[in-house]
Amino acid sequence: MKTDLLLISLLFIQLIHSQKFEGLAQTPPMGWNSWNTFETNINEQLVKDIADKFEEHGFKEAGYEYIVLDDGWMAKERDDNGNLIADPEKFPSGMKALADYIHSKGLKFGLYNCAGSKTCAGYPGSRGYEYQDARAYASWDVDFLKYDWCNTEKLNAEGAYITMRDALKKAGRPMVFSICEWGDNEPWKWAEDVGHMWRATGDIINCWDCEVGHGSWSSRGIWKIINLRDKIRKFSGPGHFNDYDMMEVGNGMTNAEDRSHFAMWSMLASPLIMGNDLRSMSNATIEILTNKEVIAVNQDPLGIQGFRFTNENDMEVWIKPLEHGSWAMVFVNMKDHDVILDFDFTKHDIGDDLKGLRMDLDSNTYTIRDLLKHSEMGNTKRNLKSTINSHDVLMIQLNKK
Ligand code: GLA
Repeated sequence: MKTDLLLISLLFIQLIHSQKFEGLAQTPPMGWNSWNTFETNINEQLVKDIADKFEEHGFKEAGYEYIVLDDGWMAKERDDNGNLIADPEKFPSGMKALADYIHSKGLKFGLYNCAGSKTCAGYPGSRGYEYQDARAYASWDVDFLKYDWCNTEKLNAEGAYITMRDALKKAGRPMVFSICEWGDNEPWKWAEDVGHMWRATGDIINCWDCEVGHGSWSSRGIWKIINLRDKIRKFSGPGHFNDYDMMEVGNGMTNAEDRSHFAMWSMLASPLIMGNDLRSMSNATIEILTNKEVIAVNQDPLGIQGFRFTNENDMEVWIKPLEHGSWAMVFVNMKDHDVILDFDFTKHDIGDDLKGLRMDLDSNTYTIRDLLKHSEMGNTKRNLKSTINSHDVLMIQLNKK
C-alpha cells in the first residue's frame, strides 16, 4: 500500500515537472522574427527600433506581442564555463538589457537556438547544454524559444524536443516553445504536449507559388507551403498550432498576393509572425498586417484551423468555423486575370465534418461582412457577387442573423 502511494506521488511529481508550460498560446502567437529580412545581420539598435515600431504603427494594439531574434544573436563560441553569450559587438548591452527594453514596451522577447551541435548558421547549438541554456534564457527573462533542427546527427526529434521542453520547465520561466524541424518528423503527431507550435514545412520564400532548390532542401512560396500541408488541420488547436512559417508580407510580392497570404495564414490559424522590415514599409503593408477583422479570424478562441472547401476553376475557397456559430470564408483568385465571382450559397452544403458543424443554409440566414473593406455585403439568401483581381482575395465573415 505504502509503495503504491509512493509510486503514485512520484508519477504525479514527474507529471508536473515534465509537461510543457500550459496556457501560453491559447490562440496562435503573434509577433515579429528577424530571419526573413535580416538573416544574421541583427543588432541591438535594430531590435529596439523594431520594438518602437510596434507601438508607432499599431502592431501592438493589433495583438502582435513577441519580438524574436533568430539565428546569429550569439558569439561564435561559448564562454569557458560553457555559457552562451550574446555577440558582444552586435549586442553590447547583452540579452537581459534587451529583454528589459522590450518588456518596458509591454512586449515579449524571444530567442532562437537549435537542437544540434551548431545552429543552421554555425553558432553554438544546445546539444548537451539544454538545461544550462534554458537557465540562461530564464535569467534573461526570455518569453519564447524557437528551437531549430540543424546539425542533429542521429538525434531523435521527439526525444530532443522533450529534453528541451523539460529543461525550460525546470528553469521555471514560462516560455512559448516553438518547434522548428520543418515537418520532417511529423511533429503534429507527437508534439501536442511538447511545444506550443511546430513548423509544418521547410523555409518560406517571398513568392506566390515557386519552389527554390538548395541541394538537400528547398524554400517554398505561399501556395507550395499551403498545399504541402493541407491534411494536418486535425492536429492543431488551442495551445498547439501548426506553424506555416514567418510571413513574407511586405517582402516583395504584390499587395494582392500579400493580402491573400495574410488571409490564408489567418484561416490556417497559423502563428502570425511578421518577417518584414518594420522600419520601412508601405502603408498598404501596414494596413494588411493590422487588419483587426482578419486578425480576429486568426485569433478566434475556438482555435480551429480552416480547410479548403473547393478549388474548382482556379478559385480557392477556404472555410473556418468561428465562435458563436459564425464562419470565415476566403475566395482567392489563382488566375492571372480578374474574375467575377457569383457564388450561390443555396447550392452548397457547407460544413466542417471534423468538428461536426454545418452552416445549414436552408434553415439559417447569415449576414455577410467584407473583412477587407469593412462593410456589409447582404446575406446568404442572395448570390455573393464580387470582382476579384488576379491573386487577390475576398474574405468574408458569415454571422447568424
Ligand atoms: C532554418 C529555419 C529558419 C531560420 C534559419 C536560421 O532554416 O527553418 O526559419 O531559423 O534556420 O539559420
